[in-house]
Amino acid sequence: MQVTYYGHSCFSVVIKGKHLLFDPFITHNELAKKIDVNNIKADYILQSHGHADHIADTVGIAKRTGAKVIAAYEIHEWLNKQGVENTHPMNTGGKWNFGEFTVKCVVAHHSSGLPDGSYGGNPLGFVITSEEGDFYYAGDTALTLDMQLVPRWGKLKFALLPIGDNFTMDAADAVEASNMIKCNQVIGMHYDTFGFIKIDREKTLQIFKDAGKTLLLPGIGETIDL
Ligand code: NI
Ligand code: MN
Repeated sequence: MQVTYYGHSCFSVVIKGKHLLFDPFITHNELAKKIDVNNIKADYILQSHGHADHIADTVGIAKRTGAKVIAAYEIHEWLNKQGVENTHPMNTGGKWNFGEFTVKCVVAHHSSGLPDGSYGGNPLGFVITSEEGDFYYAGDTALTLDMQLVPRWGKLKFALLPIGDNFTMDAADAVEASNMIKCNQVIGMHYDTFGFIKIDREKTLQIFKDAGKTLLLPGIGETIDL
């Protein structure tokens, strides 16, 4: 699977030619200035929760591409009001087969208000399963014992975990999460974008190395094959 990083918690993963875009936040990300939001492909947009640093570009990209947005029921309703009609509502615990891949919505321990103050329902994590492999997109979350359930739903090739602390778990908790989800290949997200979540890159990489795990920190705009 080709994984492209667009900064913060935004990734594209290509499965069987379909582009899955997670939590688009590019236009207002100072670190992602070189990314042209109009060039990003999307067949599906997976929305973990409603916070601006995850949804700021969703309406624009969804309208340009016609991508189907997969989100909590309340966010689906909000998107419909913004004129985004191609949506698929889900909620914690539910799964759906989209053809090329299946999405299982799992617990994320966080909050989920929308930018205009609307209620966004539960924040979600996603376990994606497909013939090309399985992976876990944790969204914004604390370390939670619910992660022990993830291996029941997917044999993970890699996991996208937040490591920036303050609003989510930190690198040490992400190592613990990788134990629970039984996946030693982690891609870090939700770090460096703004003041509260700046990380010490060397220390962070060492924390994973000491635990015998791989932490990948692709550059913004970089594509890796996993
Ligand atoms: Ni958030
Ligand atoms: Mn966030």
